[in-house]
Amino acid sequence: MAQHTPCTYVIFGATGNLSLTKLMPAFYHLESEMRLADEVNIVAIGRRDMTNTDWKKMVLESIEQAARGGINKSTFKKFSKRLTYFKMDINDKKKYPELQQFICDKGWSCNMAFYLSMSPSDFGPVVRHLGEEGLLDQANGWKRVVLEKPFGYDYESAKALQYQLNHYLTEEQTYRIDHYLGKGMVQNIMVFRFANLLMEPLWNRNYIDHIQITHAEDKPIGSRAGYYDNSGAMRDMIQSHLLQLLALVAMEPPASMEAEALRDEKVKLLNSIRPITKKHVNGQSYRAQYGEGMINDKAVKSYLQEEGVDADSVTETYAALKLYIDNWRWEGVPFYLQTGKNMPKNQTLISICFKHPPQQFFKATQVKKMEPNWIVFSIQPNEAIKLEMTAKQPGLEIDTRQISLDASLCEPGDHTNDAYEELLLDVIKGDRSLFLRYDEVKAAWNVVDPVIKTWATNSGYIDTYASGTWGPKDSNKLFDHPEQSWRHHVEPSKNGCTPQ
Ligand code: BG6
Repeated sequence: MAQHTPCTYVIFGATGNLSLTKLMPAFYHLESEMRLADEVNIVAIGRRDMTNTDWKKMVLESIEQAARGGINKSTFKKFSKRLTYFKMDINDKKKYPELQQFICDKGWSCNMAFYLSMSPSDFGPVVRHLGEEGLLDQANGWKRVVLEKPFGYDYESAKALQYQLNHYLTEEQTYRIDHYLGKGMVQNIMVFRFANLLMEPLWNRNYIDHIQITHAEDKPIGSRAGYYDNSGAMRDMIQSHLLQLLALVAMEPPASMEAEALRDEKVKLLNSIRPITKKHVNGQSYRAQYGEGMINDKAVKSYLQEEGVDADSVTETYAALKLYIDNWRWEGVPFYLQTGKNMPKNQTLISICFKHPPQQFFKATQVKKMEPNWIVFSIQPNEAIKLEMTAKQPGLEIDTRQISLDASLCEPGDHTNDAYEELLLDVIKGDRSLFLRYDEVKAAWNVVDPVIKTWATNSGYIDTYASGTWGPKDSNKLFDHPEQSWRHHVEPSKNGCTPQ
């Protein structure tokens, strides 16, 4: 369905990696699905000298890599008419009125979305210039600012950044992005929980033993050492994406699906996470760094051998965390979160492990030990929901096996949309439900801050894991019971969406 809202999207950091690999392909896909009004124009801001033709060529090359089912020439032709390059130094405040004039002269929409796809240290200065030079004035047309993660480096820096932004932006104009919220399966967690009655009576400490959230990548940090070596896995993935997943799995039903109601519940949940005190940091968290190893039969280098990484860096490429939520629903249920680079495969799973039935009824039979029930949400690469149960095997004896009820959503060949497609469109629509409110970001920093502070003081040593393995063995020490262990597999679906 076409969107009819006109908008000028101004992309700061347009020639950077995120813009080329995610934003431009997402805009292109929106074009091909006819979701953009004719009056949507995209202005790329960059420092280097480049003609419009050069810019369009660069975009074409990146879209050729990413387009679903290959690029369609006539779609790209239509799309490329929306593209313009505007050269400017973001620190030169004189350029901002020029940018505004340029957009006015073209007669483009005064509804403007400024997408800051750049280093977080530039957020403050760019928003200040936009504000002081009148580009955020909403007298004729809305003005919205999209901020990529990370929002701050810790609680204090997030607070300082927000303080700066408050001078120029209202919360309604601020779109803090967490692209995980744009993933189809992530939204499906809410639908699965709140559109079905079946699960709700079981969704609590009486029936659930523990919950795991694992995000694994089979890639190294690539060319991102400059950012990653100062960040690490805890800030990069857990503070943002994995805590959002946890909030959606564990929050109470919101009063409505309105943005504020939904975000109120997420904040309430994040604020109910038991603070990790200094003396519990070691028992509730683990970190490690990838060493050399083999991934998909290829030898890969260690983190310390990556270009741009400090020779004695102790930045973690693997982080794990055990959390408890102090509310009636979840009292005593551990939540285990882990993420790592250079693991055996790309996979994001939320695995919910149920308790054993109160009696082992089948003790006198062949059944040695009952397996627990699991619900597994596979976020990626394939979207699926699995319910694992025990059933009797065909035959004369009572012998059992685990069966998996497959609640996959897609027909073979269906594709999934990239998260950025939904989010770019939501900015135009003014729908903030999939963006983070400041109190949410603050609450998430409060959860991880004690851990990153303690890690910063123990900067002499970090455990390692061989690339191509599921992380350091000692992360198992986080588990409360010997029966608990990391779960990395999910039955392949007969259906399931095709990964992009
Ligand atoms: C980004 C992180 O936010 O998310 C990256 O900075 C990470 O390090 C990426 O690789 C993972 O996103 P996705 O959508 O590929 O799972």
